[in-house]
Amino acid sequence: MNMPVDMSTTLGNAWFPTPIFTASGCASSGKELSQFFPLKDVGAIVTKSVMSKPRHGRPTPRMAETPSGMLNSIGLQGPGIDSFLANDVPWLLEQKARVVVSIAGETIEEYATLARKLRSVSGISAVEVNISCPNVENRGLVFACDPDASRRVIDGVRKTIGGELPIIAKLSPDVTNLPEIARGVVDAGADALALINTVLGMVINVDTMKPHLGGKTGGLSGPAIKPVAVRAIYQVHAALPEVPILGMGGVSSGRDAFELILAGASAVSVGTASFGNPSALVKIQEELREILSAKGFATLKQAVGYAHREENA
Ligand code: FUM
Repeated sequence: MNMPVDMSTTLGNAWFPTPIFTASGCASSGKELSQFFPLKDVGAIVTKSVMSKPRHGRPTPRMAETPSGMLNSIGLQGPGIDSFLANDVPWLLEQKARVVVSIAGETIEEYATLARKLRSVSGISAVEVNISCPNVENRGLVFACDPDASRRVIDGVRKTIGGELPIIAKLSPDVTNLPEIARGVVDAGADALALINTVLGMVINVDTMKPHLGGKTGGLSGPAIKPVAVRAIYQVHAALPEVPILGMGGVSSGRDAFELILAGASAVSVGTASFGNPSALVKIQEELREILSAKGFATLKQAVGYAHREENA
């Protein structure tokens, strides 16, 4: 018989009963997934990054299949913060789901505006500040590619939102020195880090001889990027062992989630796998519980960063 495992985890002062979350952008606000399992049964629902105004996103086609993954070029389509707060958050709280609200902006001021609107919302567990969406017209708007811009966004959100709500800064792997950017956003007030956003990629249709995606480039997700996620989480956990990491990138089994946890993740988001199997989160959660038990871990927390132990001894 498997030994029971305490699967609970924390990101800043937010507590979650299990470490398996949705990934922002892959399940909107969870309504479609709720046909397959009660949303309260997983760690948290991380909502699609929302901006201050409604947004149509990029031209179609917006998706491309690739070997071991997919490209998306959505372009932050969404209803805008006012509609989201009026409709999606109350519905999620009715489901008794734990909610992590993801926000995105085009300017430092837009992030602060979003933070101001969230300050008075009760019941949400944390805010994910997405500074790494690759699907913007200008790479200069990918704040997470620049240490100073990253810090300034997080500093503005922290000052506006106050001290209580945990801030999770979502970073890009498409940088030279990820630990430096991670340290900067933590110094600016982030309590946790989300690693990794998708990897910038492109597909050219060799029949039409033109870029396949309407937006030309897109974000690569799925199994192809798992080694990139493991590397990023491992590097950042080595540099900042006290800072909790919400890991993501190509997780489709309990073994994949366990790998990210061994690298240093305190929780794991599942995105692309849910498109093929909408119940993937529940399956992964149960597989992870069994693996932790079989490996002799009484708590999830004991396994976080375990792969670092030998070299630190
Ligand atoms: O295009 C998108 O909406 C993707 C956002 C992201 O990857 O952060």
